[in-house]
Amino acid sequence: MSRDPGHALPSPVRKVVFTSEAIAERVQELGREISRSYSETDRLVVLGVLKGSVMFVADLVRAMDLPLELDFVVVSSYGGSMVSSGNVTVRYGPELDLRGRAVLVVEDIVDSGATLSELVPRLEQLGASRVDVVALLHKRLVSGGFEPRWVGFDAPKSFLVGYGLDHAGAFRHLPYIASL
Ligand code: IMP
Ligand code: MG
Repeated sequence: MSRDPGHALPSPVRKVVFTSEAIAERVQELGREISRSYSETDRLVVLGVLKGSVMFVADLVRAMDLPLELDFVVVSSYGGSMVSSGNVTVRYGPELDLRGRAVLVVEDIVDSGATLSELVPRLEQLGASRVDVVALLHKRLVSGGFEPRWVGFDAPKSFLVGYGLDHAGAFRHLPYIASL
């Protein structure tokens, strides 16, 4: 049974871009691939970037097969707008001591790359032995911009919602990813 009924898209959602089935399959693949590049001695911290990565990180850690601790940061840049303000603030976290630990940053989507360009050096300053990034979606807007180690899908340039992604707080709960 498809959970992505085309007839029931909430206005102003226009088109399903990635179905819940396609997302689930890709997240399983990522979980397997990422697990292979860490070992127990890395003492991995999986760091979800709230709020957008909430669905992705929850599914990803359940597809990973190695010991890890889960932590979060809250980063804001957009406010209510559809355009990145470029003004990135870390408003919460991490709570764990990252010194000597491998950190996997889990991000929903890379747009301008400003969030990750700001966040990753801060985590290195906190003493992480290694910082890698997995982003579910990448818009590839800026050539030579931030390149995550793992990417789920190349995304269209349109504004996307669902599976954690919001517009002004709405649509995070949609099980699929859609364009507005
Ligand atoms: P960046 O700093 O410009 O790369 O933007 C990254 C952040 O902006 C992401 O973590 C999202 O929270 C948000 N963002 C970027 N593009 C979209 C989109 O299409 N829909 C919803 N949020 C987005
Ligand atoms: Mg985000």
